[in-house]
Amino acid sequence: MVLGLGLMVAGRLIQRWQAAKATPGSPPLTRFTIDLSRGRDQKLLAVFLLASLFFLLVTAIGSYETYHVTKSTQFCGQACHTVMEPHYVAYQNSPHAQVECTVCHVAPGAEGFVKAKFNGVHQVYATLLDKLERPIAAHDKINIDQKRCEQCHWPKKFVGNLDHTYSHFLDNETNSPYSVRLLLNVGGGDPTHGPVGGIHWHMNIANKVEYIATDPLRQQIPWVRLTDEKGVVIEYRVPDFKDDPSKHTIRTTDCMDCHNRPAHSFRAPNDAVDMVMSLGAISTNLPKARRTAVLALTQPYATKEEAFEKIGAALRAKYPNHPDAEAAIGAVKSIYAKNFFRAMKTEWKLYPNNIGHKDWAGCFRCHDNEHVTADGAKRINHNNCNSCHVILAEGSGPALQPLNPQGLKFKHPEEVGKTSLAIAAITGRWNRSPVHSCGLSQNR
Ligand code: HEC
Ligand code: HEC
Ligand code: HEC
Ligand code: HEC
Ligand code: HEC
Repeated sequence: MVLGLGLMVAGRLIQRWQAAKATPGSPPLTRFTIDLSRGRDQKLLAVFLLASLFFLLVTAIGSYETYHVTKSTQFCGQACHTVMEPHYVAYQNSPHAQVECTVCHVAPGAEGFVKAKFNGVHQVYATLLDKLERPIAAHDKINIDQKRCEQCHWPKKFVGNLDHTYSHFLDNETNSPYSVRLLLNVGGGDPTHGPVGGIHWHMNIANKVEYIATDPLRQQIPWVRLTDEKGVVIEYRVPDFKDDPSKHTIRTTDCMDCHNRPAHSFRAPNDAVDMVMSLGAISTNLPKARRTAVLALTQPYATKEEAFEKIGAALRAKYPNHPDAEAAIGAVKSIYAKNFFRAMKTEWKLYPNNIGHKDWAGCFRCHDNEHVTADGAKRINHNNCNSCHVILAEGSGPALQPLNPQGLKFKHPEEVGKTSLAIAAITGRWNRSPVHSCGLSQNR
């Protein structure tokens, strides 16, 4: 169509030029006229109008379809296959596997769409010229607005207490099970609709909690300011932070400060193996299976193929002719495929998960007993375990039967110190309280 319009303009210019050049004796120029009394002109005009209409229709449908394709999960997750593979695979194994990437990642409306596409052009350029950062770092630039989560999760909705069982296995010959059953005090609430309280209430609704993070992964939080319901402001800081807060970016906590991995959780080998064992895919009949599996997952393989081959070889050598060996090999490979992506150098160690306080500082980035007010009178503490959760039961077998509503005093299984192969590698990162990977120093 554009070409046609161009030809029309060019024709007109040529005609003008010819007219200007014309000398008195030359033959008269044929002029372009549309004469609807001529049958040929009628037909041509009809064809022209119909073709234009058809063309406009196709363009409209085409751009609408293009819009849909470029905002689809397949496009975001698979168009740049290698680059997005880790996040796409993790997403498919997440509770949000049915939520389109753009629902969380792109602000609603035309503005958000255009912004995302401009950003996308930059990424295509980086991918083509191989200038992309590998891994795609988790950093503060992602900035998902919590309003996008609130399209589905109303923060005031009272969730109540959630009963979670964390199944673990010890690092011994028989892979003894060891579970912790918690009642997580999530709460929520809107005083006009019923009871209020719990984690969501304290952190998100009744109070405004602001903080300063000194690293892009937001793992070091030296300063916190609380503004409560009545407008009373309390400032906490760690002793070695002497800066003027106004020189830093002050952020307000939102969903992502706790739920930063709702769609892309790369599991630590310890946790992944525990989970698969609890489902029976790795049999506890294989002596020291847990340790063997975690060790197999933590070797520095160069490619997925190499990893698969060596995982198979290591487990077959350890359990020759054992009837449960092949199933275990399959399970370990599957953990590897879902959580380690060599081409993008992606694995769990680079993506802190802020929800608890076991592998990462999580809640204890602030609740670490070290954030104090200037007069030393108040601390953000973690001594009162029950403010976040009640330990209903702990151990294995019959020990898990009676539930204690007041909350048990946590007993750390001695063996865990030895099991934490993967954890040991990262404790250095959490440099304020390196006493123990799960932060429960007083329990050691
Ligand atoms: C339920 C919401 C949600 C959905 C759906 C979702 N993401 Fe994410 N994504 C997040 C959050 C939250 C972060 C981390 C933000 C932060 O740390 O502040 C993130 C981060 C990322 C990152 C940056 C690296 C990182 O891990 O921090 C990439 C890349 C990414 N997502 C790709 C995708 C792709 C591709 C899809 C669709 C296949 C998708 N996301 C779907 C919520 C979502
Ligand atoms: C399109 C709707 C939708 C959006 C947007 C959405 N979620 Fe969800 N989310 C769900 C549904 C549905 C479930 C329950 C899935 C299930 O249990 O199978 C869920 C589950 C969860 C859970 C519980 C996870 C678990 O392990 O059981 C958390 C936490 C969560 N979402 C946080 C978020 C956060 C944070 C965001 C914003 C980044 C978000 N969601 C955006 C629909 C959504
Ligand atoms: C202070 C940290 C914190 C903040 C902030 C926070 N949450 Fe949570 N939320 C939790 C914890 C802890 C749980 C318990 C479940 C768990 O451990 O995964 C939870 C549970 C949930 C669940 C699961 C409920 C279920 O039935 O399984 C959803 C959904 C959820 N949060 C959504 C949100 C949304 C949306 C926001 C932001 C408006 C938000 N949360 C803000 C800590 C937080
Ligand atoms: C950015 C810092 C920060 C992070 C991260 C954080 N909190 Fe808090 N939290 C606070 C502050 C500040 C208070 C208010 C302390 C006070 O009473 O002065 C608080 C209070 C609470 C309370 C009320 C405590 C009580 O004794 O009444 C609960 C429950 C809570 N937080 C749960 C959590 C959970 C669960 C997480 C992790 C998923 C978490 N918080 C992560 C800063 C934080
Ligand atoms: C600021 C809130 C908060 C405080 C205080 C707190 N915890 Fe937790 N804890 C959590 C959250 C949130 C989780 C759940 C993490 C998840 O869902 O992955 C958790 C999980 C746990 C688990 C299970 C971990 C696993 O994977 O097996 C244990 C055990 C535990 N906490 C012990 C304690 C003990 C003991 C104390 C007191 C010294 C304590 N916690 C204080 C928030 C807290």
